[in-house]
Amino acid sequence: MTVMVREIKPEVRADLEGFAHVRHSALPFYVITPDSLAYDVAHFHPDARYRPLLAEEDGEIIGSAQVGLLHETPTPVQGFINVYVHPDRTRRGAATLLVRAAEEYLAGLGATRLLAWVLDEPGNRAFAEAHGYTAGRSSHFQRLDLANGTLPPLQDLPPGVELRPAADFADDPRPIFELDAETTADEPSEAGSAELADYEGWLENTWRHPLNNLDLTTIALVDGRPAAFTAARTDGGTRYTTGMTGTARAFRGRGLAKLAKNDSLHRARAAGYTEAFTGNDTGNEPMLAINKWFGYEICATEVRYVRELG
Ligand SMILES: CC(C)(COP(=O)(O)OP(=O)(O)OC[C@H]1O[C@@H](n2cnc3c(N)ncnc32)[C@H](O)[C@@H]1OP(=O)(O)O)[C@@H](O)C(=O)NCCC(=O)NCCS
Repeated sequence: MTVMVREIKPEVRADLEGFAHVRHSALPFYVITPDSLAYDVAHFHPDARYRPLLAEEDGEIIGSAQVGLLHETPTPVQGFINVYVHPDRTRRGAATLLVRAAEEYLAGLGATRLLAWVLDEPGNRAFAEAHGYTAGRSSHFQRLDLANGTLPPLQDLPPGVELRPAADFADDPRPIFELDAETTADEPSEAGSAELADYEGWLENTWRHPLNNLDLTTIALVDGRPAAFTAARTDGGTRYTTGMTGTARAFRGRGLAKLAKNDSLHRARAAGYTEAFTGNDTGNEPMLAINKWFGYEICATEVRYVRELG
């Protein structure tokens, strides 16, 4: 039984399927498909130097790692290493080999701070600590049963407010980019605030991403100006996940995030989606309160572990 680590070959369907299968088995609340992975490899921003790695044991794909640079955060140069091993194939050395390969690659790119999402279980935490990582901020995955649960009723729109699908902005998505950039900058994160400054990169990696569902994404406009949004991502099956929810600073506290997300969730349910997922920093009290109001329940917690390279 020999475990080896190598780069994914995006032209090989079995690699894409194996990677997505491992991720889905280890972290079912995270939406990924072989096609979305292929798209990421082809379209990730070049500055991210994205390199997904696989661990194989006798030809079977048993581990996966997303590896690259967080190019949208300010200095220091930060790298990400997200390692997941199939739950039936742990304790064979796959994660150790993945971490080693990822660290070598990122150090070679000049990264001085490494960030790794770690599912909050004692074995995973001990593994991260043994590799020199220290616990940072954490994040809750939350799940909403769209098929059997109840959603809050659709609300009446306040005067001057209208709701539109993102698809209505297909000719000129720039106002949605600006809203995303303003609100993403305020999202709490261990990596520091992200600066979305590259419109073309955003079009490629967010707007045109195959999981991004423009029909189910809802934009709330106030007097014709985009003020809040919730970005829907869907996997082509029955799973819906939130890419981002945000309200422009001048419009917060008026119920617009709830309004946009409620509209999107109602439309997702009507379109046949049965499960909705979302994830938030455990310090993001407004967003956690909003998600609780919808009926989301916490289903897992991940901790962002950090290693400073000397
Ligand atoms: C989180 C965010 C989307 C909220 O937008 P909003 O339009 O102000 O939200 P709403 O007005 O619809 O709902 C606000 C709710 O948050 C809750 N809330 C607000 N401040 C809170 C606080 N300090 N503690 C706990 N709950 C709070 C309340 O439940 C409130 O609902 P209520 O007024 O009906 O009681 C907005 O602050 C934002 O864009 N933040 C930055 C981006 C971000 O973190 N997005 C979420 C990550 S995906």
